[in-house]
Amino acid sequence: MANVVVVGAQWGDEGKGKIVDWLSERADVIARFQGGHNAGHTLVIDGKVYKLHALPSGVVRGGKLSVIGNGVVLDPWHLIKEIETIRAQGVEITPENLMIAENTPLILPLHGELDRAREEAASAGTKIGTTGRGIGPCYEDKVGRRAIRVADLADKATLEARVDRALQHHNPLRKGLGIEEVDRAGLIDLLAEIAKEILPYAAPVWKVLNEKRKAGKRILFEGAQGSLLDIDFGTYPYVTSSNVIAGQAATGVGIGPGSIDYVLGIVKAYTTRVGEGPFPTELLDDDGERLGTRGHEFGTTTGRKRRCGWFDAALVRQTCAISGINGISLTKLDVLDGFETLKICVAYDLDGQRLDYLPTAADEQARCTPIYEEMPGWQESTEGARSWADLPANAIKYVKRVEELIECPVALLSTSPERDDTILVTDPFAD
Ligand code: IMP
Repeated sequence: MANVVVVGAQWGDEGKGKIVDWLSERADVIARFQGGHNAGHTLVIDGKVYKLHALPSGVVRGGKLSVIGNGVVLDPWHLIKEIETIRAQGVEITPENLMIAENTPLILPLHGELDRAREEAASAGTKIGTTGRGIGPCYEDKVGRRAIRVADLADKATLEARVDRALQHHNPLRKGLGIEEVDRAGLIDLLAEIAKEILPYAAPVWKVLNEKRKAGKRILFEGAQGSLLDIDFGTYPYVTSSNVIAGQAATGVGIGPGSIDYVLGIVKAYTTRVGEGPFPTELLDDDGERLGTRGHEFGTTTGRKRRCGWFDAALVRQTCAISGINGISLTKLDVLDGFETLKICVAYDLDGQRLDYLPTAADEQARCTPIYEEMPGWQESTEGARSWADLPANAIKYVKRVEELIECPVALLSTSPERDDTILVTDPFAD
């Protein structure tokens, strides 16, 4: 298969970074197509840890082209800092191996300020629990046709006109929230300064990728967040502000949907969520604590403690369908080592009726209680397993049951953060 999309199939933090890095070995181009530096991808390569937020995970590998597509929202100041940090770890980043789509909207300082001010002003129940990085407000400006895009940085008159349009909207809003108005000249200067550092990476990404595709190069589309945070299909309004599902890979870079050959869903062997919102299988007991401690469930971006719960097969079955997932990569199976009994949510009970999916209406979601199936756990360690033969029988049974319930096969099994601790069943890039 020439082109592969990787998406998170739960609420993010499924371990996409490692799998994208693992697959990027076989790819020529690695492209981000949505989200921004709200993402946090941790890569462990030969014991060295790289923490990426805005940069595509392929950047740490030599000889690959990394691409930031137009579906992303980009904080240019953050990006330049991240580039410096990763360079200091010995990774080469140049306009030869990193390209940013010219039509990518820019996250401005005012977006982060608005994001945080709204969250602070929100009462319990209306708070989203955002990462505070300005993601939502920047996407609002994009669809509101007042965003400043990478290409606008190249021309002073255009940039000034774009700033005026943005401030016409933002200054009255800020006044209402009791935040100081943005100084026009200061913002223009700030943008003119960062333009020098960003513009060398600007490119017509749609054109470059279509040429790569025609030349038979392999493209890996790197999703961020997870399908249950999708603006349309997630647990709205407790979601991020972009489309996260596989269909976005095409619009997020400018390539036809027919160019996508395989969709790989990343699925954690249990469930986690950061921020507010429904979570039917959440565990507020010792089992939840144990999953969090064993799984090191703290956000890469914000350091927040993640909420933990049992595997929800009903939800993953739903996200597999919505993204057209061909195979999953099951991650963090080793975190389940040592449990006497494991539970899997197979459906929900809604007012006495069995439902095999999570309904859209918030009040119905709140009334859904999980229907669990119990499975015996295993006491042996699965950490670092590299073949099925290394896995205890009950772990294999658990994986097989997951496959049946979500109606999707396991393509990869990841058994530690290390790149090579991976069991390959189906290579998504195989012809
Ligand atoms: P935002 O994307 O910062 O607007 O945050 C909206 C929601 O998405 C919040 O619940 C965040 O915790 C969640 N979120 C955003 N990015 C990630 C991620 O990379 N992993 C997990 N959750 C995320």
